[in-house]
Amino acid sequence: MKKEMLYSGKAKTIYKTDDPEKLISEFRDSLTAFDGKKKSEAANKGYFNAQISKKLFEMLEEEGIPTHYLGMLSENEMLVRAVDIIPIEVIPRNIAAGSITRKYPIEEGTVFKIPVIVLDYKSDEYGDPMMNEDIAVAMGIATYEETAQIRAMALKVNEILVKYLDEKGFLLPDFKLEFGRVDDRIVVADEISCDTCRLWDKSTGQSMDKDIFRFDKGDLSRAYEEVARRIVPEIFE
Ligand code: TMP
Ligand code: ASP
Repeated sequence: MKKEMLYSGKAKTIYKTDDPEKLISEFRDSLTAFDGKKKSEAANKGYFNAQISKKLFEMLEEEGIPTHYLGMLSENEMLVRAVDIIPIEVIPRNIAAGSITRKYPIEEGTVFKIPVIVLDYKSDEYGDPMMNEDIAVAMGIATYEETAQIRAMALKVNEILVKYLDEKGFLLPDFKLEFGRVDDRIVVADEISCDTCRLWDKSTGQSMDKDIFRFDKGDLSRAYEEVARRIVPEIFE
């Protein structure tokens, strides 16, 4: 049973349940970018992202990657394991786009022969600065064993998602993962959705993700619906 709110983020609200080991993650229609400086709403965004995330978590579990996903309670409410979130944004990059093209002399569209794993400290206050293993250990937010495991898991998730999304007609330039601790294990947490991935249509090259909102590139709800149609066609039957 849903109990009081634990935390409300920029796109999701987390609620307690009767069971301290389980939480409810409610995907909302609100949307922010640039550390919360740009804000909006998009119809059905929470629903599409929740369903896409559900499908990708289920698929990863089948592939042997542990996640916090437990099930769906409604169209946009996900039951998840309560985890201790490690405040590091882990970003596997396959094709250069976004911040890596602004921070370094790397042209957009450059294909990385070896995926690049970028770690950022998750903090709007500090503007998500670069993180690495030594900084994480110095700050006491993870151990070297944990960062090694996170890196290996991120590479594996990347490999699985690139292949899966290719079959659905998408390129995956990059995406963001968060990890959490539960019972001495590390699991993939948060969400994997159009808000947290760059998805380019394989035939047109068009963005079908939150870059539409970040850079005013068109109708976000329509693009998210198209992604949902390819990944979770069953919800349209
Ligand atoms: P970036 O190019 O802006 O660093 O973003 C890299 C990827 O991470 C991109 O797929 C979008 C995702 N992302 C988030 O999920 N949350 C964030 O706060 C940021 C900055 C990026
Ligand atoms: N999620 C981040 C924010 O709200 C940034 C982003 O995704 O671009 O600011």
